[in-house]
Amino acid sequence: MTRKIIIDTDPGQDDAVAILLALASPEDFDVLGIVAVAGNVSLPQNARNALKVVELSGRTEVPVYAGCERPMRRHLVTAEHVHGDTGLNGPGLPEPKIRLKKQHGVDFIVDTLLAHEPGTITLCTLGPLTNIAMALVKAPRIASRIKEIVMMGGAYFEVGNITPAAEFNIYVDPEAADVVMRSGIPIVMAPLDATHMILTTHDRLEKIDAIGNKAGKAVAQMLAFSERFDLQKYGTKGAPLHDPCVIAYLIKPELFEGRHINVTIETASELTMGMTVADYWGVTGRVKNVTFLRSGHAEGFYQLLVERLARLP
Ligand code: BDR
Ligand code: CA
Repeated sequence: MTRKIIIDTDPGQDDAVAILLALASPEDFDVLGIVAVAGNVSLPQNARNALKVVELSGRTEVPVYAGCERPMRRHLVTAEHVHGDTGLNGPGLPEPKIRLKKQHGVDFIVDTLLAHEPGTITLCTLGPLTNIAMALVKAPRIASRIKEIVMMGGAYFEVGNITPAAEFNIYVDPEAADVVMRSGIPIVMAPLDATHMILTTHDRLEKIDAIGNKAGKAVAQMLAFSERFDLQKYGTKGAPLHDPCVIAYLIKPELFEGRHINVTIETASELTMGMTVADYWGVTGRVKNVTFLRSGHAEGFYQLLVERLARLP
């Protein structure tokens, strides 16, 4: 079955891989649009990166929009220390020829949901949840029209990566994450608990490089760049690969295991700001709002990734 999706993203090398995986899978996805959000780097840079990735995929008919420039209530925190000054360091991708659509990304999300049958569009979120929360604030009636949100964000057993308590996407805009968590929309969360099992080992990057096409070379270079920070930080033989888990879950949910639980976002304490408090053991009786993916299977994931990337230019 082909799913209609909107990808909301802050590319980011791992976002780029997720976008390529989706655009290489037309039997699984009808990608209605890609919306950039401020996150890993500034909005204009993230939007430019999204255009570059779409061009790399050869799917230049897919429209790209720019959304919000900063989180709902906070100054933007960025992650150049991981992704490099451009957000997409590694391959020397050419300046994009395609242009951003003029419409604001939040309006695109609202209008697209209103124009399609209710329950037919899945939102795939790979960055802070600012655009989605703003769309819900602007037009609350879209909530019941969203089929589901599949997001990369949060952590529980793996706790934090940007602070000891919080994962980056949620930490950057905790108020937006809170709006989304309380929206009643079905949510699947790919947290660090799952993404830290999908390691970019040397062998796996070699296989991607050995595909021999432009996309495979670029992905190998991107991940070689972005993994250097995590290899040092975690001392593991490979780095976590986060955002593509969202797309892989939609193609092959059997690659992941999860549990339907309550997740509530910390928005008050500076010490634990953005923590995803996951009631994994069901001790609170709070309403279950999230399917929380606790684990993932790396071998199957990389097999899928290589097979799909091989289809691209
Ligand atoms: C998330 O933060 C970003 O830096 C990555 O692109 C991913 O979406 C991981 O915490
Ligand atoms: Ca991201």
